[in-house]
Amino acid sequence: MKPKTVDFSRATQVQVLTQGSINGYNRLFGGKLMEWIDVVAAVVARRHSGKNVTTAVVDTLQFKGAAHPNDTVVLEGYITYAGKTSMEVCVKTYIEALSGEQTLINTAYIVMVALDQNEKPTLVPPLKLISDEEEYEWLMAEKRYNLRKKRRQENY
Ligand SMILES: CC(C)(COP(=O)(O)OP(=O)(O)OC[C@H]1O[C@@H](n2cnc3c(N)ncnc32)[C@H](O)[C@@H]1OP(=O)(O)O)[C@@H](O)C(=O)NCCC(=O)NCCS
Repeated sequence: MKPKTVDFSRATQVQVLTQGSINGYNRLFGGKLMEWIDVVAAVVARRHSGKNVTTAVVDTLQFKGAAHPNDTVVLEGYITYAGKTSMEVCVKTYIEALSGEQTLINTAYIVMVALDQNEKPTLVPPLKLISDEEEYEWLMAEKRYNLRKKRRQENY
């Protein structure tokens, strides 16, 4: 299979927060953000694999800051690692001020699995790394991949 770059599958989603996404404390409802993150991660994984995908694991979801009504929220997703049938996707969420300055409010790592026509895991293309940053992300993702594998073997 032909390798694909990180940039090939990058995906962005932009939201302006309305009342439907707000919790009782007048902040962005975390569950709503998780839904948006899942969609961005799925689009990245679909673009990389060219297949339908399913969410296998969400093992990092760090809420670093709040968002409020009328905020512009930007989600950016990119692939960090390609296994045999799985892909790790990082989704970073920012609030964008009117000046254009972005503040990180959430970082998530999601494992997506490519599925064939019988909904069984199927091979994904290798990832072509171009920058030092992408190499670094890959090494960190590989550690998480091995850790998850160990946890799974131990039925954690
Ligand atoms: C995800 C799923 C397809 C994996 O199926 P499976 O028969 O266990 O397949 P495998 O054991 O071959 O694993 C497939 C890949 O997923 C990875 N994976 C699956 N479960 C994992 C877990 N719990 N932790 C880490 N990686 C996991 C494996 O490492 C493997 O990756 P690799 O091929 O790159 O090495 C299956 O468990 C499933 O359909 N789960 C439900 C997913 C779903 O419905 N999500 C939406 C929730 S609303």
